[in-house]
Amino acid sequence: MQTKSGQKTLERVISKAGLGSRTQARSWIHAGRVRVNGKIVENPDHWIDFDRDRVLFDDKPLQVRDRVYLLLNKPAGYITTFKDPERRPTVYDLITGVDTFVSPVGRLDLETSGLLILTNDTQFAERLTNPDHRISKTYLVRCESVLPDGALEQLRRGVSLNDGPTRPAEVRRREGTEVEIAITEGRNRQVRRMIEAVGSKVADLRRVRIGGLGIGGLAEGSWRELNAGEIGALGGREVRR
Ligand code: URA
Repeated sequence: MQTKSGQKTLERVISKAGLGSRTQARSWIHAGRVRVNGKIVENPDHWIDFDRDRVLFDDKPLQVRDRVYLLLNKPAGYITTFKDPERRPTVYDLITGVDTFVSPVGRLDLETSGLLILTNDTQFAERLTNPDHRISKTYLVRCESVLPDGALEQLRRGVSLNDGPTRPAEVRRREGTEVEIAITEGRNRQVRRMIEAVGSKVADLRRVRIGGLGIGGLAEGSWRELNAGEIGALGGREVRR
């Protein structure tokens, strides 16, 4: 994304106001619902200077939204995207009643369940997803076979994937074919590929922790707001309401 200092594109201004996704923002701008200094601007890439320009959406000034942080216990079968061309259920079908547009912090595969944070705080999201910050994501994995000790050791040291070696991971054996794996990266289908790299397959995958935040007693398919302590511990700022 391009930025000029102190300026943002109109698309970014509208989506950051918490009204909708960037795709929606573009379509609203194209539809002529946005005025800048009294004139309709239909170009989503138009640069806005907050000190100078007055932006109206449907003839109302944009309001600065509070930061919102949600924790969802995602069931398998829901896709982590706003709109799915194949019309499968999405995580947005589960967070009804939230009046601010929030984006998922990283993705869980369609068939992965567990902890997913959604927020409109883009800096917080970046902090959690950027591997440089090494925030661990912990997964409970049921494999199709019992992993031998050597396989667990390989996972701990790092395995070779087609997009490069994985960082050392924390790995603990649980009951039967279950293992708990904590990684500090979030590459595409990473845990599934790691398990395949040591000769098994994932039968079930659930994210149970991000940093120190666990899923607790939150029922599958339910969501709640994070509390101030949880937000602070993960590097966000307290919600002012
Ligand atoms: N690793 C995966 O393979 N899938 C997920 O959804 C998350 C981590």
